[in-house]
Amino acid sequence: MKNEKPNFKFDAELYDEQINWEARFNVEKDFFYNIFKSNNSKRLLDIGCGTARHAQLFSSFVEEVYAMDPSQEMIDYARERVVKSENVKLLTGGFKDLANIKIGNFDTITCLGNTLPILENRRKVKSALKSIKKRLNKGGIAIFQFINFEQSMIEKNSYYQPKIIRRDDGRIYLLNRHFEYGKIKTRADFITTVLDSENDIEIFNVDTTMMCTLKIRIFQKMALNCGFKKIHYLGNDTKESFNKAKHISLFATLKT
Ligand SMILES: C[S@@+](CC[C@H](N)C(=O)[O-])C[C@H]1O[C@@H](n2cnc3c(N)ncnc32)[C@H](O)[C@@H]1O
Repeated sequence: MKNEKPNFKFDAELYDEQINWEARFNVEKDFFYNIFKSNNSKRLLDIGCGTARHAQLFSSFVEEVYAMDPSQEMIDYARERVVKSENVKLLTGGFKDLANIKIGNFDTITCLGNTLPILENRRKVKSALKSIKKRLNKGGIAIFQFINFEQSMIEKNSYYQPKIIRRDDGRIYLLNRHFEYGKIKTRADFITTVLDSENDIEIFNVDTTMMCTLKIRIFQKMALNCGFKKIHYLGNDTKESFNKAKHISLFATLKT
């Protein structure tokens, strides 16, 4: 290993590159289109939008899209590299800001890619659910996507298939994810190894996040307590009802 160790930050570009958006949208696109249509959604907010790929997709499904994320870097990247449609508005902010920001109410609020559990504990998840509920029009819906926190499922998938990204400067990024189940909090390790053009290790970095172990039973209870009336769960294939012994992640659609 070389002596100089540059600081490492898992940046917006790396986040964006490690997801196969085409494959993801091939699975998700029709589900979103149909549900927005049947709910007559015109105004949509995507909270925790990351690089705003969903917001850009949704811009042809609904009239107005707001995409919000507390990471200024994600928002800047989205503005420069992702968002092309004029009906997408990018905002810097998180769940806490939802109460104060003057953006009106929405027919649909989405919160995708496991954003809700990264709030870490049940108190924060519940408060996010409450602020989302307040921002919904009568008859509006909220859609959450998060991983299946059943212990057996987390343990079976405790290592994700590593991803390899080759950059033009000759660097190779090896991205590994590791999960460790906990009854209350589940640990997620994001392990990044960067090899330089001579294949020497330039960076080895581990970022650990504690996620709220958001099992369906708990999520359901919290959502009903926050005033949502009906909740429907689909597996990550977007076709079958969620089966906790089968699906690695899920979509929860909450009706007001
Ligand atoms: C795993 S990424 C998901 C991004 C995107 N929704 C997707 O599906 O690819 C989680 C995102 O949540 C954002 N985030 C973190 N804390 C948040 C909070 N308190 N409120 C809203 N978003 C938050 C992060 O900045 C990050 O962009």
